[in-house]
Amino acid sequence: MTIPLPFMLVIMLALFFISKISSETYTLTQFQSLPSGTRTTLVSKDGTFELGFFSPGSSTNRYLGIWFKNIPLKTVVWVANRDNPINSNTTKLTITKEGNLALLTENDTVHWSTNARAKAINVNVVAQLLDSGNLVLRDEKDNYSQNLLWQSFDHPSDTLLPGMKLGWEVTKDVNLNRYLTAWNNWEDPSSSLFTYGFSLSNIPETQILNGSSMLYRSGPYNGVRLSAVPSLRHRPMFNYDYDCDMTDTNECYYQFKPWNNSLISRMTLNQTVYALQQLFWVETTQEWNLSSTIPRDDCDNYKRCGAFGICAVMDNSKSPSCECLSGFEPKSPQNWVAGNWSEGCVRSSKRWRCRETNSDGFVVLRNVKVPDTRTCWINRSMTLEECKVKCWENCSCTAYANSAIVGKGSGCILWFGDLLDMKQLPDTAQDLYVRLDISQMANREAKVSSAKMVIMVTSIISSVITMLVILAFIYRRRKAKDIVKTKVERNDSNQEDLELPLYDFDTIACSTNDFSRDNKLGQGGFGPVYKGTLPNGRDIAVKRLSQSSTQGLIEFKNEVIFCSKLQHRNLVKVLGCCIEEQEKLLIYEYMSNKSLDFFLFDYSQSKLLDWSKRFNIINGIARGLLYLHQDSRLRIIHRDLKASNILLDDDMNPKISDFGLARMCGGDQIEGSTSRVVGTHGYMAPEYAIDGVFSIKSDVYSFGVLLLEVLSGKKNKGLSYPDRSYNLIGHAWSLWKESIPMEFIDSCLGDSYVVSEAIRCIHIGLLCVQYQSDDRPNMTSIMTMLTSESALPQPKEPLFLNKMVSLEEDFGQNMHYSTNEVTISKLEPR
Ligand SMILES: *[C@@H]1O[C@H](CO)[C@@H](O)[C@H](O)[C@H]1NC(C)=O
Ligand SMILES: *[C@@H]1O[C@H](CO)[C@@H](O)[C@H](O)[C@H]1NC(C)=O
Ligand SMILES: *[C@@H]1O[C@H](CO)[C@@H](O)[C@H](O)[C@H]1NC(C)=O
Ligand SMILES: *[C@@H]1O[C@H](CO)[C@@H](O)[C@H](O)[C@H]1NC(C)=O
Repeated sequence: MTIPLPFMLVIMLALFFISKISSETYTLTQFQSLPSGTRTTLVSKDGTFELGFFSPGSSTNRYLGIWFKNIPLKTVVWVANRDNPINSNTTKLTITKEGNLALLTENDTVHWSTNARAKAINVNVVAQLLDSGNLVLRDEKDNYSQNLLWQSFDHPSDTLLPGMKLGWEVTKDVNLNRYLTAWNNWEDPSSSLFTYGFSLSNIPETQILNGSSMLYRSGPYNGVRLSAVPSLRHRPMFNYDYDCDMTDTNECYYQFKPWNNSLISRMTLNQTVYALQQLFWVETTQEWNLSSTIPRDDCDNYKRCGAFGICAVMDNSKSPSCECLSGFEPKSPQNWVAGNWSEGCVRSSKRWRCRETNSDGFVVLRNVKVPDTRTCWINRSMTLEECKVKCWENCSCTAYANSAIVGKGSGCILWFGDLLDMKQLPDTAQDLYVRLDISQMANREAKVSSAKMVIMVTSIISSVITMLVILAFIYRRRKAKDIVKTKVERNDSNQEDLELPLYDFDTIACSTNDFSRDNKLGQGGFGPVYKGTLPNGRDIAVKRLSQSSTQGLIEFKNEVIFCSKLQHRNLVKVLGCCIEEQEKLLIYEYMSNKSLDFFLFDYSQSKLLDWSKRFNIINGIARGLLYLHQDSRLRIIHRDLKASNILLDDDMNPKISDFGLARMCGGDQIEGSTSRVVGTHGYMAPEYAIDGVFSIKSDVYSFGVLLLEVLSGKKNKGLSYPDRSYNLIGHAWSLWKESIPMEFIDSCLGDSYVVSEAIRCIHIGLLCVQYQSDDRPNMTSIMTMLTSESALPQPKEPLFLNKMVSLEEDFGQNMHYSTNEVTISKLEPR
């Protein structure tokens, strides 16, 4: 038999290329092939992953798969022909004329193929195994990333690798749903019925299913994470990025990444234990270790407590216990007591009447995994109040909640009928408002045992007496001093009514030992601060306006005005004031732990600030500032945020103080300018220091500096580095650029901090101190960044001190430093 010459050439060419594949290579081109009978494999460039043929366990079936190359324990992460095994040794992997990757048998029958749509005719397709473990098919002729024809990451088997997306994308051109399907058993990779993925719904959540029956649900995505998934602080090893913004994209997915890039990790749906496992490879013991698993406990099993039942796990055991929601009782008490909870609960009151104001109402359940949302109604733009009204109006609506928990929460989900699969969680889940008989609730509370009754009655009597005493006291004071309302002039000479209690000067003078030196706590913006103790034993802090200062008077009034209108747990509380002739005093709640700088910059004290305290302080300051910028009745720019203005209470909760320099911005105005630049060097945003332009973004800058100080335990100013042009921001930036951000963390914390949170905080800090104020996030975004795991933008290079130094020289004479304090003020515009 003779073979025509052209065919000969083709065959020879093919043989030439095949022989060029040594035992390993990382791309497969048209003309090359990978035969199933040999040990030839495709290896990723850095040698992490390997693609080849294998037979699991004692099976003789051959499969094409990807596994970790460097791990002695063969761990297959992807199988191409899982439902279509091959038995011959003559099958080969090639790229077909049409540009598909395919398994071809001897007589060129297609056994398995990528079935990618050919986009052009004249293509030059190659297959490549990337270092991420992704097998991609692309057109060489075109730009690299643009022409991905197919990728194995879009067709997961039972394993999710770092950077691989789990979830769906439905657009005009794409219709992808990436979910995990477990093997049937460890010797048989064929698809079982056991799957894990995102529900294809407009209230997305992840679910573990067996066929169509639900085994586990994560609770809906709430804008931050999946409702029942623990928050960031409980997951120190892995970062989870969600993209599930249902308003402008038609996709919903998440991906995970280990914080330490060199950690080898995977997430696998395991058919042996019927669970989703998050695993990482331990070099020393040469085995996979479990980082977490889902279901986590028995309460995670779907509908564990039936309708209207809520599941909680006892602290020390993993066994669950079910409770009916208040206002409900077990449908079958016998079964319930026996621990058979599946029948659930029913409304206990027969008198409940829909929309009757004395029996129908809503009660809030905090930190719960919200019920099954499969028959829910959702609207992402409604407020909670509108949501309540909507639920109230429809008698089959049984509960409502916000659909997103970012900020104060937004959006509306309504539940109809049975509430299924609720779980009590330890922290940071969602609040659910359940419709029930409120008269029944009142009855229940009335039915307390007689012993409790006695205690209650005595305590009521005693509190009544106390109140009478207080009233009498107030009455006497009113008589003594006729004014409780004070009129104070504001900056712009408007008159303002204030409701701030007045104290008389003698009482305060007496409580502070006549403003003795020993009672002096420090120096505030416009005068010294003293500790005092009122006759009733309450500790106070008293700020006394220096008598000579006119500037001080403006700041004093400013502070009186703001303090009387602002109330937030992260702002220091003003108890009252005293205005008597020459004397002007402000009386605050006393903070036993002084201010943040006292702890942060002192070697022995800084040890008392462990990571959780620091993280709490950062969050508290952010909340306080968010309140000032957005949520308070006034919109306020603080202008002098710094460590010494952050006071700490007994539990080390931060409170922002010193509003002497604060400015109010009406409604939409979020920027102002001044000819008098006041503030503290090192905390001042460049545009404020240079041009006198202040805005909420200049506060954000100061917050960024403060954040970096809390993380590093170092002052932004007064830091000496070999290269003098560097300040703390420059230091943070260079470590960030060198990818060693952890070097920045205060060394006194040792290893006892949550790496993921710390890195995220540095990242946020750098975003806040960016040179252009428009680049800086606002406090709403910062709050979201602190509490969620969403991807953060890359920070731009901040302005370093070398530029600031020349700025200082520019200002020269105009700048004055008060003693060795670091307050500068530019008195006149140049
Ligand atoms: C190709 O081979 C398979 C088995 O190896 C056989 O079932 C099939 O009929 C063959 N097809 C052709 C067209 O010969
Ligand atoms: C990351 O992991 C590698 C290997 O496990 C280890 O040597 C390295 O110190 C880790 N890096 C950090 C920053 O923890
Ligand atoms: C499934 O889990 C069991 C027990 O943890 C483990 O021995 C087995 O290797 C796991 N299987 C896979 C495919 O990871
Ligand atoms: C109440 O809501 C349900 C479910 O959305 C709907 O079918 C029903 O028509 C509504 N009833 C009223 C009175 O609006």
